[in-house]
Amino acid sequence: MKEVYTFSYQVADIENITQEQQNLLQSARQARKNAYAPYSNFHVGAAVLLSNGEVVLGNNQENAAYPSGICAERAAIFAAMANQPSASIIRLAIAAGKKGDPFPISPCGSCRQVLVEYENRQKKQFEILFEFGDDKVIIVDAAADLLPFAFRADMLNARD
Ligand code: THU
Repeated sequence: MKEVYTFSYQVADIENITQEQQNLLQSARQARKNAYAPYSNFHVGAAVLLSNGEVVLGNNQENAAYPSGICAERAAIFAAMANQPSASIIRLAIAAGKKGDPFPISPCGSCRQVLVEYENRQKKQFEILFEFGDDKVIIVDAAADLLPFAFRADMLNARD
């Protein structure tokens, strides 16, 4: 039997989203300025809004041993959860690529797996925004939307 997976997301002009959403995107753009990406020259910034109102920033940090680097999304989420483990994540904004890029720069697969982990941990979905084109943004309601069949903690105990 064939099953179908669907999810809905919003495409909007940045000027039409809420001020809070715009602010977080602006924070992600700020964070991108501090990316350390001398190998790819692809700079990414991320900003996490926490339930206590704090905004935690991250950006990609590359390494001469390429796989040792980390994406902006994970840098931001790990920093947030390392320092404020009892806060929950409300929203994540990502700024990447160049102005006018026709396609959205969305989180990579490894980052999606990490985002889903924290969504499960806090038992509450969080919104993800990523910009593209000339001041457009895609907004998804949940990390889980971006990763069907994600690997979850309860699967670790599913055998014998
Ligand atoms: N990168 C991110 O930081 N986030 C993404 O969503 C995609 C890729 C980084 C990893 C690497 O430093 C560079 O962009 C090129 O892949």
